[in-house]
Amino acid sequence: MRGLVPFAAGVVLCGAIVTAAGQAPTQPPAATPADDAAPEWLPKELKNLKVLPKDIEPKQLLVVMRGFTQAMGVRCVYCHVAGPDPSDMSSYNFESDRKEHKETTRAMLKYTEAVNEAFPKGVGEEPKAGELRVTCYTCHQGQREPPTKKPDGPPRTGAPAAAPQGQPPRPPGL
Ligand code: HEC
Ligand code: HEC
Repeated sequence: MRGLVPFAAGVVLCGAIVTAAGQAPTQPPAATPADDAAPEWLPKELKNLKVLPKDIEPKQLLVVMRGFTQAMGVRCVYCHVAGPDPSDMSSYNFESDRKEHKETTRAMLKYTEAVNEAFPKGVGEEPKAGELRVTCYTCHQGQREPPTKKPDGPPRTGAPAAAPQGQPPRPPGL
């Protein structure tokens, strides 16, 4: 996870940049990203990190975790074991690996790193230091299963189709 963290995983990998600016779904009663203090239910010692760096600050880990919830449109309880009321944040056993989605996410973290490492040179703009090309959000788009349906409408081959509103007409052949 070198390249990914602490900066990149927290800020970019998980699309948390979006968190800081916009108000996407947060976990009640979690503090807003603007809050400085770590919420009191957040463990001060992280005991079961196998992919993220073991010395990551709990507050920074929370940024990464919130990024997951946004990238996938889920809540903490999707990956973590909670008590009978999942909105009671103090009821969570975050270190438990009982939920399959948590283990899948570990694999997905490694996969995302590999995808970034394999990204072809010279395509698009070079990402800024600490930023990643491909993040969870690139594929998931706020959904558990990344959208794979083809867009409606005719394929764009041959004669240039009418340009979508607000865009300049396409040159022939595109
Ligand atoms: C999509 C799955 C997923 C979601 C959603 C998620 N987490 Fe996690 N969480 C993980 C994974 C995976 C790890 C372990 C990472 C590793 O092994 O390096 C983890 C680890 C943690 C840990 C560290 C536990 C320890 O002691 O090792 C805490 C705390 C935590 N998550 C809190 C949260 C909170 C709070 C939320 C909701 C805002 C959340 N997580 C949402 C997947 C998720
Ligand atoms: C290159 C595209 C891509 C990237 C990047 C990516 N995923 Fe996925 N992910 C997928 C696909 C495709 C599936 C399979 C969905 C399906 O059909 O069930 C999937 C499945 C998952 C699942 C299992 C879903 C379920 O409900 O069982 C989890 C959890 C997950 N991804 C988390 C993540 C996280 C967290 C990240 C970022 C660290 C990430 N993914 C990055 C494409 C991607």
